[in-house]
Amino acid sequence: MNLHKTLKTAVTKLNHLENPSLEAEVLLASLLDKHRTWLRTYPETKLSATQHLKYKWWIQQRAAHKPVAYITGNVVWNSLSLKVNKHTLIPRDETEILCHHIKTAQTISPKTILDIGTGSGCIAIWLKKQFPSAQVSAFDIAKNALKLAKKNAKQNQTEIKFAKSDLTQILPNKTKIDVIVANLPYVPENLIVTPEVDQEPPTAIFSGTDGLDHIRALQAQITDKSISFKQLWLEFLPSQTDTIKSIFSDYKVEFKPGVNEELFFALITPRA
Ligand SMILES: C[S@@+](CC[C@H](N)C(=O)[O-])C[C@H]1O[C@@H](n2cnc3c(N)ncnc32)[C@H](O)[C@@H]1O
Repeated sequence: MNLHKTLKTAVTKLNHLENPSLEAEVLLASLLDKHRTWLRTYPETKLSATQHLKYKWWIQQRAAHKPVAYITGNVVWNSLSLKVNKHTLIPRDETEILCHHIKTAQTISPKTILDIGTGSGCIAIWLKKQFPSAQVSAFDIAKNALKLAKKNAKQNQTEIKFAKSDLTQILPNKTKIDVIVANLPYVPENLIVTPEVDQEPPTAIFSGTDGLDHIRALQAQITDKSISFKQLWLEFLPSQTDTIKSIFSDYKVEFKPGVNEELFFALITPRA
C-alpha cells in the first residue's frame, strides 16, 4: 500500500480524535523518520511489510488514546530530543516557558541547581545546557523515571547527579542551593483529565484534594531541614496562586505568566 492510501485508512481509524489527519501524518512521519511535507510530496511511495505492520499497531494504540510521545518513545522539547515512556510525564510546553523564566532571572550563572521531580530529566538537562559550569542534581521518587532521565542526560551529553529521593529527603540539613526547581504533581485528585493524560503516571500528576500536597510537603521539609536557596521555582495551576502565596508566606513570592498570560509559575525568594 502506498503512503496516500495508508494515511487515508489511518484517518478512518482515528476519526474520534480531534485532528485525525494530523495525527496520522505525525505518526507516519515519525515512523519513516521524515517530515510531514515529505509524505505529501511522495504519496506514491510504498511502505515495506514491516513498516506497514508497525504503523497499523501505532494507529491502533493512538485510537485507544495512547499519547503520541509514548507510541514513538520520543519527544522534542525545548530543542532537546528526549526519550519518554509510561514511567515519565510527557514534558509540557508550559514547562518550556518556566525554563525560559528561570534562565532570564539569572544575573550570574548559578553554581548549584536542584531539579526536584525530574521525570524525564527535561528541566535538569536543559538548565545544565544553559549553565554548563553549574553542578546540577535531579531527584525523583520514581526509580523507573530516574532510569530514563539518566539515559536522556547521556543522550544529550550532560552530566547530572541523579538520585532517588522523596522531595529533599536525602539532602543533609542546612544544605545551600542556588536554584531549586520543583515541577511537582499539582492536579487536584478529583479533576477529570483527558484519556491521554489518564495514561500518564498518576504519581506524576495528582496531589491531594487541592493539588498542592506535594508543594506543602516541600515547604515543610525545607523549613524542617533548614535548606536555604536563592531561588525556588514552582509550576502549578493559575487557580492555585493564593494558596501558593499562603504556603510560602515567610518568603517573597513573585508570579510569572505561562500560556495566555495566566500565572502558572512562582519564583520564591527569601525575604531580605
Ligand atoms: C509533574 S511531573 C514533572 C516531571 C518533569 N520535571 C517535567 O517537567 O516534565 C512530577 C514528577 O515528580 C515526581 N514525584 C512525585 N512525588 C515525588 C516526591 N515525593 N519526591 C520526588 N519526586 C516526586 C514524579 O515521579 C514526576 O516525575
